[in-house]
Formats: sequence, structure tokens, C-alpha cells
Amino acid sequence: GERLDFRASKQRLLVVANRLPVSAVRHGEDSWQLEMSVGGLVTALLGVKEFDTRWIGWAGVNVPDEIGQKALAKALDEKRCIPVFLDEEVVHQYYNGYCNNILWPLFHYIGLPQEDRLATTRSFQSQFDAYKKANQLFADVVNEHYEEGDVVWCHDYHLMFLPKCLKERNSKMKVGWFLHTPFPSSEIHRMLPSRLELLRSVLAADLVGFHTYDYARHFVSACTRILGLEGTPEGVEDQGKLTRIAAFPVGIDSERFIKALELPEVQDHMKVLKQRFAGRKVMLGVDRLDMIKGIPQKILAFEKFLEENPNWRNKVVLLQIAVPTRTDVPEYQKLTSQVHEIVGRINGRFGSLTAVPIHHLDRSLDFHELCALYAVTDVALVTSLRDGMNLVSYEYVACQESKKGVLILSEFAGAAQSLGAGAILVNPWNVTEVASSIGYALNMPADEREKRHHHNFKHVISHTAQEWAATFVSELNVTIVEAQLRTRQ
Ligand code: ADP
Ligand code: F6P
Repeated sequence: GERLDFRASKQRLLVVANRLPVSAVRHGEDSWQLEMSVGGLVTALLGVKEFDTRWIGWAGVNVPDEIGQKALAKALDEKRCIPVFLDEEVVHQYYNGYCNNILWPLFHYIGLPQEDRLATTRSFQSQFDAYKKANQLFADVVNEHYEEGDVVWCHDYHLMFLPKCLKERNSKMKVGWFLHTPFPSSEIHRMLPSRLELLRSVLAADLVGFHTYDYARHFVSACTRILGLEGTPEGVEDQGKLTRIAAFPVGIDSERFIKALELPEVQDHMKVLKQRFAGRKVMLGVDRLDMIKGIPQKILAFEKFLEENPNWRNKVVLLQIAVPTRTDVPEYQKLTSQVHEIVGRINGRFGSLTAVPIHHLDRSLDFHELCALYAVTDVALVTSLRDGMNLVSYEYVACQESKKGVLILSEFAGAAQSLGAGAILVNPWNVTEVASSIGYALNMPADEREKRHHHNFKHVISHTAQEWAATFVSELNVTIVEAQLRTRQ
């Protein structure tokens, strides 16, 4: 049928995500400083401009007092953000516990934490209760700000319980839900004690979206095998109600990166970096310091490369920029020390008085520094063990029009499905393979680099965040009109 296009009318969009695009730091009783949040979800959603958008989420801090809450809400209002206040205990059980210690590792095929696997269901249950409670709090805030006709777009694994909460409050609300992580094989999802409740709740949405066709297929399988529902080419059907399920691969605001490269401050950073690393090839890693990013595997592969290629020692350097994330979760603390230990050992082994092979920074870079790094480096190394999409790989490609650097990309990142033809795809678990890909990338002739880059660049500039959101929202509107027509028939 004819595609309905709602784009012209500047539709009101309520984006609901655990993380707001800014995180708050307190400076006094009623004074707040707002800092940019880091992560793929924020990057993608900030690239979305054609809607009248309000963003509802957690500001990343505990604000127990009313004065503080009021002042923060006011500061956030200027950014069109609306805070959901979660107390410390809820954050501990919901965010650190259920979201980042249970769902995150499970959805990335790491499995469930040991203590929960061993029938100590008490902590699991209390974390799930807190998860539901937090989702209810989000629903209350959405409900308070909802106006008829709004599209409510829920995001990510933090809010799988939200579609149900929203529809219970108002069955007419247009509700979409999008997952920014992989959705795992139904055999993995089956392990989750709350597997039924979460699937059922997500199905309350009108449209459910994933980055790749595989994730969508896994979700449909989970619904058919675990809930016994019927899967159709459009989605999943439950007692006559259809939930549309489809793939909507995210992208970046590529123009923002391309334009930034012309700015004097970015050019200055580029000049400094080029001088600093003159005569050496530079490889780049940019990640949140997360267990899914395969950072230890990446560094060990680089070590193997140096070991096997003595002629490259002192001629190549790896810059690994790893911003700390979820630092209250013990697994993340362990990872930080593990990475520091490996980096120290390798620099001790291959460094000299004047140079080290690995520069590892535990910090985030501002946008201009990041663009400069993307532009001047010869190879980007993305070795995620699993990754919903991985936008760092898109950002690197966007900034490489003049240099035509090589992207080494994990086959377990969603991006492998879109940038696979231009990148060198690797299995990050195979350190030998990654090491030889590093050699291949560093020695790649210019014409091959150009061809590969061109392929990926074309994709990155034509599959933007803007397009992603417009397609999702348009599909959601169409889905609802079609459902109305069906019930009238
Ligand atoms: P994830 O969503 O798991 O963090 P993505 O690669 O999709 O992974 O997105 C990460 C986003 O966060 C990118 O936009 C990237 O620029 C940004 N980012 C990641 N690490 C850093 C860092 N160390 N400094 C600055 N920005 C970072
Ligand atoms: O894109 C994946 C993601 O998990 C987002 O959901 C999240 O906002 C981001 O990474 C960063 O993690 P956090 O919000 O826990 O800091």
C-alpha cells in the first residue's frame, strides 16, 4: 500500500531512555553542571533533528532533596530534557544490578552471573522487582508529559517493562520500543528467570525495532518458542493483536563529523597529533571500558603482532581511548585493572626510553579531539566480542575521506553487516587472526584502501541517524493506522 509520511508535520516525539544526553554534576544546593553523556544511544539520538522532541530519562545522579530536584529539572528543561528521579537503592538494584549485571552480559552472550545461576533467586528477584519499579517510575513521568498524538519511543534493555506499563496507563498511546544491544538467540534468552514477563511486556508496544535482521529474528523465535505465540512475516501475533517487529539499523549524523574536520580547533589538534607521531603508523581504539568491547583481546593481538614483526616495533603505536563506564559494577572494576596490567606489561616489554607502543587513556575525549584522532590515524581496531551496532566504526569512516585508513572490525558487531565489505572482518577471540589482520592493514596498498573506504563511506553518509529515526517513527504511525483499519473491518 501507499506509505504514509508524517515527516512534514514536526511530530511531537517523547524519547524515553535510561540515559539522558546530559549527565548532571552537583555544584551546590541548587546549582548543577551538565556534561555530555557517552554512548551509542546518545550519539544516535542526538543526530535526530526533525521532530519536536522531548527526552525523558535519568540524569545519572542521586538527588534526594526537593530543592535539588527542582533546580535540576529547570536546568534540564532548557535542553528539552525531563528527569526521572531514582533513589540510590533503586539505582543500585535496577541499573547496576538487573540492567548491567544481568541483562547486559546475557544479551551479549557472556551469560548470567554465577550467584544467580545457582538458585540464589533472592537477589535476582529483588533486582527484578527494582527493575519493574524503576520502569513504573519512568511510566509515571511519561504519562505526566504525554499529549494526545505524541509518539512515545522507548529505548533499550533498561526499559523492557515500560511498553506494558504505558499501555496499562493509556491504551491509545503510540508506543515503540527499540533495542540498542543485540537480542540473543532464544537459547540464551531462555536462561533468564524473568524471560516470560519481559517478552510479554515488550510485545505490548505497537512496533519493536532492532539493529539487525538477526536480532529481530531471535526475538521472534523467543516469542514463538518461549511464549508459544505465532510468528508472522510482520511480527508476532497474540490473540489477534499484532506487534510489528523489524530491523532499523542505526547510523550517525555523518555531516556533523565531516564538517567538524574543517574547524580550526580540529585542524590544530590534527597538527599536534601528526607531529607527535611523525614517522610512525598510528592505530586507534575508542571504546567505553566495557567487557563487551574485547579490549584485552585487542591489546593481546597487538602484542602478538609486535612479537612476530620486530621490524614494526618503534614504527607503530596503538592509542586506546577507553572511557570508564558503570564503575560501580564489580565486573567493570576487574576489567579496568586487567587492562592496566596488560598494557603495563607490554609497554615494559616493547617500550624504550623515548617511546611506548601503547598509549592507554582512561577518559573520554571531547568531540573535536575525537574527530582529529579519527582523521589522522591509519587503522581503527574495533574488536567487540558482541556489540549491538558499534557507532565508533561509523565515526571513523566518516572522518577518513582524505586519509582512507583501514577499519578492522569484529564480525560480532552489528556494523559488520553494513561495513563488512569495506572493513577487514575478524573474530576477536582469535588473537592470531587479529594480529595478522593488523599486519595486513598496515601494509595495505593505497588503491585497496581507497576502494574499501569508498564502499563504507558511501554507506555511512547515506544511512544516518536522522534516516533511522524518521523510518522508525513513520513505520510506527503506519502500523497504528493499519491496526485501526483491521479492527474496523
Ligand atoms: P556503545 O553504545 O556500546 O558505547 P558505540 O560504538 O555504538 O558503543 O557508541 C559509542 C559512542 O560513544 C560513540 O559515539 C563514541 O564517539 C563515544 N565514545 C566512546 N568512547 C569514547 C571516548 N573514550 N571518548 C569520547 N567518546 C567516546
Ligand atoms: O548503546 C548501548 C548503551 O548501553 C546505551 O544503552 C547506554 O546509554 C550506553 O551504552 C552507555 O552506557 P550507560 O548508559 O550505562 O552509561
